[in-house]
This record gives sequence, C-alpha cells and structure tokens, in this order.
Amino acid sequence: MKPLLHFFLLAVSVAAVAGRPSLTSEEAEESRWHPNSLEKLDRSERSLGKLGVADLSNETTTAYWYNDGQTALKSKAKNRLNTNKAKNVIMFLGDGMSIPTLMAARTYLGQLHGYSGEEHSLHWETFPFTGFSKTYNLNRQVADSASTATAYLCGVKTNNGQLGVNGIVTRGDCEASTDTDNHVSSIAEWALNEGKSAGIVTTTRVTHASPAGAYAHTSERNWETDADVTDDGYNPTVCKDIATQLVTEYPGKDFQVVLGGGRRTFLPNSTVDDEGSYGYREDGVDLIETWKQNKADRNSSYSYVWNRSGLRNVIDNPDDVDYVLGLFESSHCQYHLESTPETEPTLAEMTEAAIKILRKNDNGYFLFVEGGRIDHAHHSSYAHLALDETVEMAAAVRLADQLTEESDTLIVVTSDHAHVMSISGYPSRGNDILGVADISGVDNLPYTTLSYANGPGYKTPSNSTRYDISDDDLTLVRYEYAATVPLSSETHGGDDVAIFARGPWSHLFSGTLEQSSIAHFMAYAACIGTGLTACT
Ligand SMILES: *[C@@H]1O[C@H](CO)[C@@H](O)[C@H](O)[C@H]1NC(C)=O
Ligand SMILES: *[C@@H]1O[C@H](CO)[C@@H](O)[C@H](O)[C@H]1NC(C)=O
Ligand SMILES: *[C@@H]1O[C@H](CO)[C@@H](O)[C@H](O)[C@H]1NC(C)=O
Ligand SMILES: *[C@@H]1O[C@H](CO)[C@@H](O)[C@H](O)[C@H]1NC(C)=O
Ligand SMILES: *[C@@H]1O[C@H](CO)[C@@H](O)[C@H](O)[C@H]1NC(C)=O
Ligand SMILES: [Zn+2]
Repeated sequence: MKPLLHFFLLAVSVAAVAGRPSLTSEEAEESRWHPNSLEKLDRSERSLGKLGVADLSNETTTAYWYNDGQTALKSKAKNRLNTNKAKNVIMFLGDGMSIPTLMAARTYLGQLHGYSGEEHSLHWETFPFTGFSKTYNLNRQVADSASTATAYLCGVKTNNGQLGVNGIVTRGDCEASTDTDNHVSSIAEWALNEGKSAGIVTTTRVTHASPAGAYAHTSERNWETDADVTDDGYNPTVCKDIATQLVTEYPGKDFQVVLGGGRRTFLPNSTVDDEGSYGYREDGVDLIETWKQNKADRNSSYSYVWNRSGLRNVIDNPDDVDYVLGLFESSHCQYHLESTPETEPTLAEMTEAAIKILRKNDNGYFLFVEGGRIDHAHHSSYAHLALDETVEMAAAVRLADQLTEESDTLIVVTSDHAHVMSISGYPSRGNDILGVADISGVDNLPYTTLSYANGPGYKTPSNSTRYDISDDDLTLVRYEYAATVPLSSETHGGDDVAIFARGPWSHLFSGTLEQSSIAHFMAYAACIGTGLTACT
C-alpha cells in the first residue's frame, strides 16, 4: 500500500473505532468556529502573583518534609480494612482520564486556588486504596469506551465497539448480538435483581458508550437510534437501538435515575425539543413519552426534566419522585467552562439528585456516574477543557463522599482508557500547567508543558521550521495543544489507568487488575452478582 493511502486509511479507521466525540460535522464545525467567547475564568487573575504566589519557603527545610511525611503516615497507619457489606456502590468513571490527566488536573485545580498546584489533590486522591487497571480489549491493545464499559460494568472483556455482549460476537454483527447466550449483564442489573435501586448519570448522551454499558446489548455502540441501525442496513426491530433498549427493556426501564444529555436519540425527527433541536428517530416514537407512560403504568411518581431548575426541584423534593429522567441537551452536555448555567446542571448537581432519589431504597443502590467529556476534550486537543472536566468530576466525587457513609457505601473512581497527552520539559514549580515549559535548544522555539502524541493540534511547519507558538493565545479554553502526528481526532492511549476506592472492601482495588475484575470486586462487596460474594 502506498504510504499516503495507508496513512489515510489508518486515520479513518482510528477515528471510526476510537470513540471520538460523536458530534455531527455541523456541530463540530459550529463549535470549532464559533467558540463561546465567554471567559468564565479570568486566568490573569488566577495566574501566580495576583492571587499571591504560594509561599514555598518552608519546603527548603527538613522539618517541613518530616512533618509532611509523618502526617501522611499517621493518617495511613489508622487505616483498618473495612469488610462491611456495601449497601451502596457508586462508580465514577472519568472517560479518558489518564494518569497524566490526573497530575495536570490537580495542578490546574491548585493553581485555580492560587497555589503552586503540584502538591494539590483531586478529591479521590484522599481515598485509602489505589490500583491499576489494564485496559486492553479482545482485539485492540488500545481500547474504546464501549468494550471497556462492558469490562468494568459487566465483568467481561469483549471486542472493540461492543456493549453487553461477549467476544463471540463481532462488531456490527446484528444477528449474533440478538442471541441472548452471548449477552452479558451489568452490575446495575445485578443490583436490581437483589432489590436495590440503580441509576446512571453522565455528561454525554445517556445512550453513549459508557453509560450504555449499564443496560445495552449491542454489537455496535453507534446504534443509538433506529436510524443508525437502518443506515447500517439492519432492521431496528431485530437489532434494537440503544435508546429503545434503555426505555423499554430490562434493566434500563427499571433505572430510577437517568441523567445526562441526548434528547435527540429519544425524539422523532419531526419533533423539536424544548431548546429547539430536532430529534433523530425515524420510527416516529417519542421515547420521552414512552418513558413517562411506563412509569405511570406502575403508578409511580416520576419527573422528566430538561433544565437546571427542573433538576434543582428534584434535589429539593426527592420524596416526590421515584423515577427521574433528565435530558439537558440535544446531544452531549456542554463543557462546564462553556455551559449556560441557567439551563445546564453540573455533574455534582446531577450526582446529588441521583443519590437523594436512590437512597430512599432501604436495600441500597448502584449508581454509575460518568465525567464523559474529559475524553472529548482530549480528542480535540483541548487540554484546558479536559482538565476542567476532570476537576468537575472531582467536585461530584467530593459531594458523593459527603452524602454517603464510608461504613456502608463503596465508592470506586477509575477511567476506561488513557489518552496520549504528556507532561514534559522541566517547568519550574508553579509554572502555569497550561503554559510554556521552555524554549527548545535545538530550534530555539517555545513548547508547552502539555502536548499530544497525535491529534488535530499538529501544526504545520513553516519555512522548514517548527510552528512558532509565541503569538498563540494559550488562555483560550479551546486552544489546541501541539501534536506530533496529525490526526483529525487525537487517540486513546494504551497505558494503564488508576483505580481509587473508599468504603467496604476498597482494599480489593489495589495492585494491577484486569479492568473486567472491577465489576466482580464491586459486586463482591455488595453481596450481589453472579459469583463469590462477601456474604457467602
Ligand atoms: C512556615 O512555617 C512556619 C513555622 O512552622 C509557620 O508559622 C508558617 O505558617 C509556615 N508558612 C507556610 C506558608 O506554610
Ligand atoms: C425522518 O424520518 C422519516 C421516516 O419516519 C424519513 O422518511 C425522513 O427522511 C426523515 N427525515 C429526515 C430529515 O431525516
Ligand atoms: C395502578 O392503579 C390502578 C388504579 O388504582 C390499579 O387498577 C392498577 O392495578 C395499579 N397498577 C399497578 C401496576 O399497581
Ligand atoms: C425549565 O423547564 C421548566 C419545565 O419545562 C420550564 O417551565 C422553565 O421555564 C425552564 N427554565 C428555563 C430557564 O428554561
Ligand atoms: C526562511 O528561512 C530562511 C533561513 O533561516 C530565512 O533566510 C528566510 O528569511 C525565511 N523566510 C521567511 C519567509 O521567513
Ligand atoms: Zn474517546
């Protein structure tokens, strides 16, 4: 194959399988060309110096580090293994939250507060146990978000692009995916089977790969509506789309909480939603109405909300609602730094509403919460947005930690796969994590601390020299950080991701684990599932 053609095919196939943000091309162009100019963060304010340079002078002393180490030790030495039964399990998934993302986000957060930043921590970094998750799937070294969701929610590794089916099925094989012998069930279903409640919360469409791992069985993650199934030449009454599965099939129809984006996958293409966007469905079914009717038929109280005030009402009156469906955007929720506060709730608010509804069940619950747009921001090389979305998830985790008890609630925080952002150079302490690391001694041009191995941030050399970023505005939230290899969408990374846990049996989440073990370990702690449990 000619090298150029080979490159092109590779780029196309990577883009097709890698779980890149499923924005339509208009949306992608629209968002790229007309970025929201509202700068919610005045970075000149937060830059070191204005908020006060962190006083690092004590760090030069021996006493400072002795004290720091001894304080950490006292806290660790108090740790006792918690072997209680987990009444509740909350799993947080930072989509694409690689280990470099953790370091960069904690530094960004610290710098937002006027500190040097490197010594800061994201809330889950205070949890007692940490492990590594191996993210490869059956046919890829570097996995997508559907196969990984099947691993960490259903406990089974599968082929790229598939949800809730084992590796006997191959991607896009409609017929094989209808054979229930090939189906694998999720921990959300195991929880429902034992009389617990279950729910999903995400900043992506609720039918997107990660949350769909909790309820869908499909050989193609992109079959979010019947139109997607038809477009690929299959019959949507045979291979049901993901939205239909969520609303009409077990376990999705029994979820008490479904919060995120994605109204368009619920609505017919002739229906305009509350914010003026058309639906994508071609079967004429309004799944929001189907959802409401299903809850009415159970004589249950329910609420469909599409904006922040609607959700605040649920948070304030959880006793009035048994089932809540909240769809806050036609597609994915907006990035937090670009969102409209009047209409879009934060991930922390969605998490709060979910916990307040689910905890009404005395048998407990399983809740899945995804910070889903860390991944999208990385795919676009928008490192600033990726770090901010990570900080938003940390706020949601902090709230969940506060609203639940360590004695009876297991909280697990992890990621599905890495990304190819690196943190490089030898920047000084407190250097803006989003800024310039140094000037290269080879070409005498500056380079940023954050950069990508590939992606749209590739900058064409001019006059045979590397692109000069000197005049670039690094304060733009959509600044595209430099990439070595040009690709339309930056790719996932194959490195291990971290797992953080607190609560019953959190000590199981240590060492280097197959990603698929996570579902088994969570189920063990909660005495649910298909195998050994802490109660047997
Ligand atoms: C440095 O140490 C001194 C003595 O313990 C203490 O009073 C001071 O607050 C410390 N400064 C900072 C910035 O932590
Ligand atoms: C909408 O769906 C109908 C089928 O219900 C189809 O005939 C039509 O082409 C669709 N319209 C658009 C704009 O996709
Ligand atoms: C709902 O309420 C109606 C009227 O009270 C009753 O006839 C029906 O059996 C109830 N349905 C369920 C599922 O409880
Ligand atoms: C939020 O939704 C409710 C219910 O549809 C509506 O009455 C209200 O005007 C909406 N608020 C905003 C800010 O759009
Ligand atoms: C290109 O580089 C050469 C050699 O450094 C320099 O002489 C020339 O002026 C440059 N041209 C432009 C357009 O910058
Ligand atoms: Zn992705």
